[in-house]
Amino acid sequence: MTLLQELESRLAVAFESVLGEPVSAPVVPAADLRFGDYQSNAAMALAKQRKTNPRALAEQVIAAVDLGDLGTADIAGPGFINFRISPAAFAVRAKALLSDPKLGVPPLGEGRTVVIDFSAPNVAKPMHVGHIRSTILGDSLARIARFLGFKVITDNHIGDWGTQFGMILHGWKTLLDETALEADPIPELLRVYREVNAAAKADVSVLAICKSELVKLQAGDAENLAIWERCVAVSKAGLQRIYDRLDVSFDTWLGESFYNDRLAGLVDEFLEKEIARVSEGAVCIFSDGARKPEEDPFRVHREDGWADNPAIIRKADGGFLYATTDLATLEYRIDTWKADEIWYVVGVPQQLHFRQIFDAAARWGKTGNFQHVAFGSILGEDRKLMKTRSGDNVQLVDVLEEAVERSRKVIAERSPDLGPEEAAEVAEMVGIGAVKFAELSQNRLTDYVFSWDRMLALQGDTAPYLQYSNVRIRSIFRKLEGEYEVASAEIVLNEAEEIHLARLLVRFGEVLPVVLDDHRPNLLANYLLELARAFHSFFEACPVLKAEDSVKASRLALCELSGRVLSEGLGLLGIRCPNRM
Ligand code: ARG
Repeated sequence: MTLLQELESRLAVAFESVLGEPVSAPVVPAADLRFGDYQSNAAMALAKQRKTNPRALAEQVIAAVDLGDLGTADIAGPGFINFRISPAAFAVRAKALLSDPKLGVPPLGEGRTVVIDFSAPNVAKPMHVGHIRSTILGDSLARIARFLGFKVITDNHIGDWGTQFGMILHGWKTLLDETALEADPIPELLRVYREVNAAAKADVSVLAICKSELVKLQAGDAENLAIWERCVAVSKAGLQRIYDRLDVSFDTWLGESFYNDRLAGLVDEFLEKEIARVSEGAVCIFSDGARKPEEDPFRVHREDGWADNPAIIRKADGGFLYATTDLATLEYRIDTWKADEIWYVVGVPQQLHFRQIFDAAARWGKTGNFQHVAFGSILGEDRKLMKTRSGDNVQLVDVLEEAVERSRKVIAERSPDLGPEEAAEVAEMVGIGAVKFAELSQNRLTDYVFSWDRMLALQGDTAPYLQYSNVRIRSIFRKLEGEYEVASAEIVLNEAEEIHLARLLVRFGEVLPVVLDDHRPNLLANYLLELARAFHSFFEACPVLKAEDSVKASRLALCELSGRVLSEGLGLLGIRCPNRM
């Protein structure tokens, strides 16, 4: 049990004894340490329901609560209950972490299966910097969910069956440079796609050819299918290289095409169950009127009032759509994988799409916790959408390349004694780590400005700062040459800096569940920054190696735990830690 859970259960017992019935009494970390370590406003909420005086209720509860050795409670303002944890209680909990591989993190997800749908780029189009957010966020959420005990299935739902294939097929047949394709497939496919796209814009007859190529593909034409297959295969290989570099992996890659042969049956089923109906030749899902129009994804407000906003699942020409595939995908995940939850890590512009999918799924009888984990845009330093000088979308590979190049320079300057091989490895970890942390330390919904200098700084809120903090801790142990056995050390907390460090260390197990409440790895990122700062203050104020034996052992244990929480925490963000830098 975390400290917070223990406080909650003791507080609940006290409330029950006062009120004569079981109630829930949530506790949160205090916003301001001057008032205590944790606090609860349960007395206020419960007194309001019962129309009694909150302060009087809080007083009765405080008199009744048994905190054991945990610390003390007092009342502030109209009825807040503040808890102050004793240094001894922090010490006991910190010591328990020494022998706990999970570092106090509770197995909250045990018995639950979650499918995480992230990255999902479109074949034959490059992954641009917007995909970076989905890939990095999704990977981190997957790592955190696994650590909390969920059964996690990561699925790369690539766009391998879009209308872009009409253009690609035409381009493949007329423009493809096989040597360039062999050497680096994604840029060559992109070149072909762009040229055909431009030609089709200028000349409708080219567009018509592309459309007929697409129709042939969809009808199962052998030549086009073979080209499509190769195109998907080389694209996947190209993507895999990027994922390897990012240290991101997927359990499955079931792209859109995987669901093709389920779509016709799905549409029939929707018609039969009257979830969808034919409108102007197309099959559409309309509102069932169960929600207020403001909350109904199938209604939209126009100048002259509320209008229908249907989701089309089959076009009048018989073609299926993105929504059709997503419904088939959702069903597959629930039926085949027995998913309890599905998290879709996809940008804000697709919000309406997912609201419609979730609503339609519920009407279809598919139940589960479905979440659209949305995110905003990445802006260049000019605060406009990030583009290259020629106005194209910035490509993910280029961002990674530049990050590593820049970190190479920083490392050459700061750590000239690293050998060339180690320097290259460290530069990779620092550069990629910096890009990931810049993403993960932001509130996912706000647009963020991409700044190389800020991202790679060794001071400030960056990955290199955290990696460097971890290196500093490891170097303490290197000096000892294994002469200390920290696992058995007694932890004694006297100095304010020691107490604060321990307070944060035992909070690790409380932070991770909150991260998953709303899918916000930035809460973990910020916690790690706070922990690193607390470690540095501790290390400045409290001598470790020069302290007398028992104090030294206790402080070394704090160093060890700080290093473990930092590297575990960074690992959960998908960031690797060098041994030296
Ligand atoms: N391929 C889509 C895109 O790039 C993202 C797919 C997200 N996942 C899903 N199940 N719709 O916009």
